[in-house]
Amino acid sequence: MDLLVSAISGIFLFLPALLPNSAAVLFGGGTPVDFGRSWRGKRILGDGKTWRGLVGGVSAGTSLGLLLAILTMALDASESWRWGLGLMPIGVVFSLSLGSLLGDMAGAFIKRRLGMKRGQKAPGLDQYDFVMGALGLTALTFPGWLSAHYLNGEAVIALVALLVFVPLLHRSVNIIGFKLGKKKEPW
Ligand code: CTP
Ligand code: MG
Repeated sequence: MDLLVSAISGIFLFLPALLPNSAAVLFGGGTPVDFGRSWRGKRILGDGKTWRGLVGGVSAGTSLGLLLAILTMALDASESWRWGLGLMPIGVVFSLSLGSLLGDMAGAFIKRRLGMKRGQKAPGLDQYDFVMGALGLTALTFPGWLSAHYLNGEAVIALVALLVFVPLLHRSVNIIGFKLGKKKEPW
């Protein structure tokens, strides 16, 4: 398969995992996922992870994925641009969206254990926790699809493209969120 197509379609297929973070910022607020509880003197996740953010983010990512899945099906796009056949896209896009925010929460869990405050910069972790969460959960739920699009042979270029593109996107989106007053820090 053409390397450029693999790289670009790999980013396209990852959109349901990319949207939840920004959507969580817009939907977020209210009851924290950890209900304000602490573990060994430190918050489990902190006030930056809320139920509204989680549900809103996963819903937004899944909705976008379903919309794009229907569109690519209607356009009869090749397998490179698909989340699988039949009803499979429902599971794959949900897995990418949920995994993304589970990864984000795992990142927050690690940050709290290291004594870092909400919103404190954690280079590497902030940019890749959700990527690992989305890829990790989907590797468990749809291993064949994940390998075909991100790991097997030349498809690994899609993984490389993600690892390069995501931090750039993350930074740009956060600067926009900061300027709009939706985010307290520009990272
Ligand atoms: N958010 C939310 N619920 C989530 C994820 C995010 O409500 N499950 C909202 C919160 O308002 C959060 C903002 O989105 O402050 C930005 O998310 P993120 O940068 O991941 O959180 P931080 O504030 O940086 O907190 P942490 O240090 O825990 O990562
Ligand atoms: Mg953060």
